[in-house]
Amino acid sequence: TRTPVNVTVTGAAGQIGYALLFRIASGHLLGPDVPVRLRLLEIPQAVKAAEGTAMELDDCAFPLLSGIDITDDAKTAFDGVNVALLVGARPRSKGMERGDLLEANGGIFKPQGEAINAGAADDVRVLVVGNPANTNALIAQQHAPDVPAERFTAMTRLDHNRALSQLAKKLGVAVTDIRKLTIWGNHSATQYPDLFHAEVGGRIAAEAVNDQSWLENDFIPTVAKRGAAIIEARGASSAASAANAAIDHVHTWVNGTDEGDWTSAAVVSDGSYGVPEGLISSFPVTAKDGRYEIVQGLEIDEFSRARIDASVAELVEERDAVRGLGLI
Ligand code: NAI
Repeated sequence: TRTPVNVTVTGAAGQIGYALLFRIASGHLLGPDVPVRLRLLEIPQAVKAAEGTAMELDDCAFPLLSGIDITDDAKTAFDGVNVALLVGARPRSKGMERGDLLEANGGIFKPQGEAINAGAADDVRVLVVGNPANTNALIAQQHAPDVPAERFTAMTRLDHNRALSQLAKKLGVAVTDIRKLTIWGNHSATQYPDLFHAEVGGRIAAEAVNDQSWLENDFIPTVAKRGAAIIEARGASSAASAANAAIDHVHTWVNGTDEGDWTSAAVVSDGSYGVPEGLISSFPVTAKDGRYEIVQGLEIDEFSRARIDASVAELVEERDAVRGLGLI
């Protein structure tokens, strides 16, 4: 039998954690033949709730789940970790300034980066879900100098999936008919969902849509503000769809993208497309042999350029702010 893969989930007692853990344990993260051992990291006040979730995981009798450990100590949580899903974060409370938000999250992602650096397995892969995801990922990455930078990623797959769905609806096609969609930039309202490289039935999606007003005034804001719309409707932020996207992100990373397609993920920039080297920004990426690679050589027109630049400028501001706070 195969050695179980160690999967650590932070914020395990939260709402995304609740939607995520059962799918990991049932084999959707890595594949139907890969046993997993779960490590749940929570703050002390939420350990009991995480224990309750662990009881339910037990009660599912998942054949692939070889064990569950629960801890409030980052060092313990990341010891030997192969896949780290950093979901727990400090949300913005009412009236909180951005600096305070970044500082509070620095207090979470710096020690977690250090713990990953100290104890993770050689093949560790890190996905940051907790917001502000790109900059939290940057903080963790900067405190894990012994781990290859490319192993730190942040999640824009939910935005990608939202864009797929909106476009499929508009064109009356199946989501599987769409290829090469891209989310560029930050996981925030400045993100840019790009239809100028996406393809539908062999045509460029923007041409198939042939409705610039819809693209600018409906599609882009609907995708970018979907999180707020879910909160408005549900009274709570997206959880099951976020968990689903986290599953997709890791599954694709490990198992690869289809030939002739790509997906979106926030990865460390190599300077491509004018995104400053080292920033963790969303790009079109392919996955092969367990690595995400930025798709190279796409022509970027003026419309897309302005939107990519605006989102990247926000990432630069966030990076400079955390630098100013001494967090990186
Ligand atoms: P939640 O508030 O239900 O759960 C967060 C959990 O994290 C709580 O149980 C809390 O105790 C825990 N936590 C806080 N600090 C921690 C620490 N230092 N170590 C371990 N655990 C810690 O929040 P929810 O809905 O599960 O969302 C989690 C995060 O995911 C939020 O930051 C949210 O904004 C973000 N998110 C990101 C999305 C994306 O597309 N990148 C989509 C949806 C949510």
